[in-house]
Amino acid sequence: MEIVVLPTADDIAKAAADRIEGLLGRRSDAVLGLATGSSPLPLYKELGRRHSEENLSFADAKAFLLDEYVGLDPDHPEAYRNVIRREFVSLVDINEDAVASPSGTADDIAAACKAYEEAIQAAGGVDLQILGIGTDGHIAFNEPASSLASRTRITTLTEQTREDNARFFDSVDDVPMHVVTQGLGTILEAREIILIATGENKAEAVAQLAEGPVSAFWPGTVLQNHQHITVFADEAAGSQLKLRDYYDHMYRNRPQQ
Ligand code: GLP
Repeated sequence: MEIVVLPTADDIAKAAADRIEGLLGRRSDAVLGLATGSSPLPLYKELGRRHSEENLSFADAKAFLLDEYVGLDPDHPEAYRNVIRREFVSLVDINEDAVASPSGTADDIAAACKAYEEAIQAAGGVDLQILGIGTDGHIAFNEPASSLASRTRITTLTEQTREDNARFFDSVDDVPMHVVTQGLGTILEAREIILIATGENKAEAVAQLAEGPVSAFWPGTVLQNHQHITVFADEAAGSQLKLRDYYDHMYRNRPQQ
C-alpha cells in the first residue's frame, strides 16, 4: 500500500490525475471505476481542465460507477448516475453510453446486480478504480459487517452514513435507507485503486485502513489485500497515521523503476 499525504485537496487532485493521464496514455480505451461523494470532485475538475486545456481525451474510455441509491427517482439530482454526469461526464469527452451504473430502480434488483457484475467482466474488468471513504470506513456503500468477499448487491445504510449524506438532501429522512453497491470482492478485482480522503472527519478511517487489522468492522481495511493501491490523504485526513514519517520518507525516495 502506498500512502501519500499531500498538503491540499488540489495537490491530491493533480497527483491522482497524473495517474489517470498516464493510464490513458498507455491505453486510451481504459476502463475507469468512478466514485461519487465530495472527495473525488477536485480530481474530476482537474481532469476536466486537462481535457479542455491540454486535450486529455476520454473518448475511447469506459466507466463503471460504484453504487446507487435504491428507489430514488431516476431524475433526482442526487441519484449517483446524475451526480457523475454533472460532475465528471459533462466535463470531459467520455461517451455517455460508455458510463454504466448499478440500477436502483430495477424490478429485479438481484438480477440487475448480477448483470452489472457481468458487464464489468465483459468490459475486461476495471483498470483504475477511484474510491473515497466514509467516516465509518465504508468504501462504495459497503458498510461495517459487509463480507470482505461481497459482490454487487442491495444493502442497508447505517444511520451514520445517512446523516453524513443528509447534506445532499433536504433532510436525513430523504436519504434512502437502501442502496446497490459493488461488493468489496468486486472492488478488489480492479487492477489499480486510488483512494482519496480529505478532512479531519476521515482521519480515523484512514488510520484504520492503513494500519488497523483487516476487519469487516472497518470495510476499507480489505484494501490491504490489494496489490496496487495508493491512498492519497490531505494533512487532516492523515493526522492519525502512526507511521506518517515513514510514508513521507517512502514517497520522497520512491524507486525509479
Ligand atoms: C458515500 C459514497 C462513497 C463515498 C463516501 C464518502 O456514501 N457511497 O463512495 O466514498 O460516501 O463521501 P465523501 O467523499 O463525500 O465524504
